Amino acid sequence: MRLSAQGLLASFPVSLDVDAERRFYDAVYAPRGNASDADLRLDRRIFLAEMDNPRSGFFERRRLYRRAFERLFAEPAAGLRALDYGCGTGEWGVVLATEGARTALLDLSPAAIEVGLRRARASGVAERVTGHARDASDLSCFGDGEFDVVFACAAIHHTLKYPRAFDEVVRVIRPGGRLVLAEGWGNPALDGLRRLRWRLANEPEEAGEGLIFGPWAVRLLQTRFRSVEVEPLNAFGMAKRLLRGRFHEPWARLALGTLEGADRALFRALPPLRRFCGEAVVVAVK
Ligand SMILES: C[S@@+](CC[C@H](N)C(=O)[O-])C[C@H]1O[C@@H](n2cnc3c(N)ncnc32)[C@H](O)[C@@H]1O
Repeated sequence: MRLSAQGLLASFPVSLDVDAERRFYDAVYAPRGNASDADLRLDRRIFLAEMDNPRSGFFERRRLYRRAFERLFAEPAAGLRALDYGCGTGEWGVVLATEGARTALLDLSPAAIEVGLRRARASGVAERVTGHARDASDLSCFGDGEFDVVFACAAIHHTLKYPRAFDEVVRVIRPGGRLVLAEGWGNPALDGLRRLRWRLANEPEEAGEGLIFGPWAVRLLQTRFRSVEVEPLNAFGMAKRLLRGRFHEPWARLALGTLEGADRALFRALPPLRRFCGEAVVVAVK
């Protein structure tokens, strides 16, 4: 049976207007316009060092990011045509370009794309990077099979609710090309806590977090990709959210390391528990 995105998404009613989400993310990214070139500059070395820096915003997601990085760069990037999908301020896309890929940055937010293109200039790869501020449900700026790899970090759960977005991302990947995702992972144990946290933090609907990636999305990918591999990460380790802003303190790093170690041991000893992970790297081959 061929599942449609609409069919699967029907059980996740989300009523969000794309303009509201664009306005929300424009406001989120606008302050980054004040960042200096030195702050925006990125390459492989700087990016990996940021993941290990407890004062960096990347630290909290370093396990997810490191694994995504390894999977994304498992194939040399030089000469690849790559799309950083829902790119935000373009960190991943610019690193792809510094490794030699020709990269398109795509995001709903023009403010994000502006910063992404400045980042590309500051990183010395402007000639290999293009920017596209548009809704991912219309990728008509790209041809069929235009990309060898599409990478999306915390982004595809935003776009799948929009009609045609799934068909479009599949269309622009060449046969044999890859979709690499770094995503939060929904499970019954965590989703209630996530939603409670959003309510307590007064997170607006426009933030677009209403749809949580998980097994349903993998079933959707399986309808159009010949292989879909999921690497689960972090269950107890998701308690890192409670430690946010404290990673520079040794006790917080010790607590996080202990929880992550426990998850690794648990997932190895009892593989069925992997479905309770809170994050995953997904690699789909078309
Ligand atoms: C949580 S952010 C992730 C950004 C970036 N990939 C990162 O890891 O920092 C989600 C991104 O998806 C973008 N987005 C949401 N809906 C979109 C759509 N319909 N088309 C394109 N981008 C969209 C938002 O503007 C936002 O930048």
